Amino acid sequence: MCGIVGYMGNQDATPVIMSGLKMLEYRGYDSAGICTMDSGDIEIRRSSGKLINLERLLKEQPLHGTIGIGHTRWATHGKPTVANAHPHKGGAVVVVHNGIIENYQILRDELSKKGHLFLSETDSEVISHLIDEKLKTAASLEEAVQLALKDLQGAYALCILSQKDEKTLIAAKSGSPMVIGIRGNEFFVASDMPAIISNTREMVVMEDGEMAVFRNGEVKFSTIDGLEITKTSHYIDWSPLKAEKNGYPNFMLKEIYEQPQAIRNVVAGRLRMDEGDVFLEGLNLNDSELNSFERLCLVACGTSWHAALTGKYLIEEYCRIPVDVEIASEFRYRDPLVSKKTLVIPISQSGETADTLAALREARSKDAHIVSICNVVDSSIPRESDGVIYTHAGLEIGVASTKAFTTQLVALYLLTIRLGRANGTIDLIKGREMIAALGELPSLVEKTLELDPQIEEIACECLTSWDAIYLGRGISYPIALEGALKLKEISYIHADGYPAGEMKHGPIALIDREMPVFILAPNDRHLVKVRSNMEEVITRGGRVIAVCSEGDHETSKGAEFTLHIPWAGEALSPVLFTVALQLMAYNFAILKGKDVDQPRNLAKSVTVE
Ligand code: M6R
Repeated sequence: MCGIVGYMGNQDATPVIMSGLKMLEYRGYDSAGICTMDSGDIEIRRSSGKLINLERLLKEQPLHGTIGIGHTRWATHGKPTVANAHPHKGGAVVVVHNGIIENYQILRDELSKKGHLFLSETDSEVISHLIDEKLKTAASLEEAVQLALKDLQGAYALCILSQKDEKTLIAAKSGSPMVIGIRGNEFFVASDMPAIISNTREMVVMEDGEMAVFRNGEVKFSTIDGLEITKTSHYIDWSPLKAEKNGYPNFMLKEIYEQPQAIRNVVAGRLRMDEGDVFLEGLNLNDSELNSFERLCLVACGTSWHAALTGKYLIEEYCRIPVDVEIASEFRYRDPLVSKKTLVIPISQSGETADTLAALREARSKDAHIVSICNVVDSSIPRESDGVIYTHAGLEIGVASTKAFTTQLVALYLLTIRLGRANGTIDLIKGREMIAALGELPSLVEKTLELDPQIEEIACECLTSWDAIYLGRGISYPIALEGALKLKEISYIHADGYPAGEMKHGPIALIDREMPVFILAPNDRHLVKVRSNMEEVITRGGRVIAVCSEGDHETSKGAEFTLHIPWAGEALSPVLFTVALQLMAYNFAILKGKDVDQPRNLAKSVTVE
């Protein structure tokens, strides 16, 4: 995983690289490092932990030079120590790397035999030594890099410097994302556009197997086999969103409270009340094309996978189209049964999740049609799709996905209306009714947010628990999974979500006086059954937190705590129940003194498999 930045120009490289790394910290914050080159002198600064530690180090030991490379790490091979932090130096060569080199151990053994001394436990260090070894016979750094890349197996986005070639910066990519920004004779390399867009809007998107050599104010593009190619830059017309907390103590809380507006944004300009339909501008499929698919396949990871599960309930119920939901990391390796009759829908906040991207490519290789649901504009997943439904949630910085998830739910609801209108399963009246329900949603989210003080009290009472269970039926089951994931990732309390009816098949054994059980009981067709499941928990002495609909005073009987959520109808209540569970996880984590924006071991965007 990780984020990389490179710079060559006439400015001091350090601030340019550091501001890029700040924007890339969502890709990992286990350690960070930077290297600059000044008249052939190479200097490196590295520190473990978040970028702020590197900032402090640079104040004490500043760097100089107008060429440089930087890295923010999410540890895969080797602990998050200074020794394992990038940049890595092997002989005269320094690299930063995003990806995983799968054959690093074999290469390392071979290079060690040739006298190379390894100082880290990483897979990445081998790249610098390998290029350094190739430099012994190659005519140039460029050729040494090409020779070295032939030996690498795995994924990489690389920035490379060499003491022996003080005027050159090389970037290469295969399997990990990379963009290049150009401003006159200044060049910026990064894992994604937001890291460098404040410097330039002229961007070149690098494809797998390509490299760029920057020298003397010029760039030369080639394949990694040395075949020269022409690449054109594109003007990026969207504005970088600023990461500001606007008075909130952290990004997660800000993003939770932004949900009413985020929901307004995802529906803006898309509703056609008269026609009882929606307009999805990037879908690029007319009614007959939409009706030509035999099935849908929603593919995603983590929270986005929970959105996909919710989408299955919506689409199958309202449109009567079979929907498969796939975990991307499984889908990609099991020769999935998709064809040109399958509409594959990758769902991703970042648009850079390696497993989801690989699943997309797998589906593409089997001729499936691909429409993604994504938040980050122009990221890899929408770029490689035939169509896209953007969720317009805005910049999400908190590692725990909040507004990205609820806007994915709304985007899936919009897609449901479109599919249903196209195949006739949703008639004009129903379509209008579904659209009208959306109109109320932002204000109902606002009302749900007002439950925060009550939620904080519950979190306070249950704070000593080490485990928690979340139960839901029907469309609330994926929301139970999402509630449990939120609690786990930011408070480090172990939590599991189950379909409420499944509890008696095993998880019920866990119930005791210490176990908080969050029962999701919206006022839908499952309510009576969910109440029975709740009784089963109460009978066994569990601590029930009933999350039910406003006006439901029956379900609260017997519960230790009750939250009353506004009623938005069965199809949209997942949005409101989610908001309450986000606040629940948030309060647990804050009361436990955890860093909710950057929880341990996680990264916002998982760009390795
Ligand atoms: O960017 P994506 O939506 O593709 O990310 C998928 C997951 O990595 C992400 O949802 C992860 O589970 C979050 N930490 C959840 O809060």
